[in-house]
Amino acid sequence: MHNDVTATGHAARIATVDALLPAPLPFRVHGDDILLTAEAGETTAAGLATCTEVGPDSPQSIWRARVEHRLEVQLAGPDPAAGLDALLTRWDEHLHSLAQVGDAECAAVLSRPSRDTAGTTELLRHGFAPVGVIAVRPAARMAAPGPATTPGVCIRHATPDDLGTAMRLMLELQRYDAQFGKVTVRPGIEELLEKELLRQLERPEPQLWIAELYGRPLGMVLLQLPDETGWIGHRVAASRIGYLSSLAVSEAARSAGVGSALAAHAHQVFDEAGADVVLLHTAVANPRSTPFWYAQGYRPLWTGWQRRPAAR
Ligand SMILES: CC(C)(COP(=O)(O)OP(=O)(O)OC[C@H]1O[C@@H](n2cnc3c(N)ncnc32)[C@H](O)[C@@H]1OP(=O)(O)O)[C@@H](O)C(=O)NCCC(=O)NCCS
Repeated sequence: MHNDVTATGHAARIATVDALLPAPLPFRVHGDDILLTAEAGETTAAGLATCTEVGPDSPQSIWRARVEHRLEVQLAGPDPAAGLDALLTRWDEHLHSLAQVGDAECAAVLSRPSRDTAGTTELLRHGFAPVGVIAVRPAARMAAPGPATTPGVCIRHATPDDLGTAMRLMLELQRYDAQFGKVTVRPGIEELLEKELLRQLERPEPQLWIAELYGRPLGMVLLQLPDETGWIGHRVAASRIGYLSSLAVSEAARSAGVGSALAAHAHQVFDEAGADVVLLHTAVANPRSTPFWYAQGYRPLWTGWQRRPAAR
């Protein structure tokens, strides 16, 4: 009952925050999930606390801590910030017995609509940092013209012969992104990346594209067309969703327009596939990708907050 009232108030609040957010649904508690509730005056808060663990050989392990405690949040009433504060205190009590102090492979994470800014101060006070963003670009969005592309850049489909190039660029990308809190480079990352890239390259028409300068491969972009993006469909109010998985340009070739040329090519492929929006994940503190994507017409839709280790 408490959850239904909070869910209704939360949905009414969120409907005014961002037209690209899907309508939130009441929580469904499965298996070991725990429903936490809190109140602050007339404000109510509900949180669905879940925990997932991935092995070091799971492809997902690259993007996260191995153990992730996650809280989905719904806030209703006049003071959502106070509601979130009370809920985070409840969650901390819950995590106390579950998370080992100082374990960097155990993170507490929550996603909030980027424009639902109430409670930001409270998240910071509870030790969370904004580490990632799911950014969105509606299909019709105009981007400012980027830097002039170096003459001689050509973009082509990747072939199985590009495995070495794609591996080198992906490793460079992951090592760079690992500085910003979520991507985690562990022993064995080469095998995980190779498996995923081979899976892409062996497809009849891989959505992996290579940028070459006079025959030298310098950059790549990996895409998921709307028939492969069901896994992220609950994040956006759109029916045909493109997802831009990775974009990387060799360090020596950066700031020369290669990334902009690859992004323009990707947007053309998504337009041809009838995507209404394109989503991508980016690290907030990445000084290259954050301004790059916003100049390409993206803007934040969801902000991922993380405390890692979950317990200090
Ligand atoms: C992010 C990345 C792919 C961009 O590729 P890139 O080839 O460097 O990008 P471009 O040269 O096309 O665009 C960047 C430059 O153009 C400038 N620029 C971008 N839009 C512009 C515009 N509209 N007008 C003028 N200049 C513009 C940027 O300021 C930047 O120049 P600067 O480095 O002097 O500040 C690349 O830096 C990279 O691989 N970074 C490391 C990995 C990474 O972060 N990948 C993204 C993960 S999500």
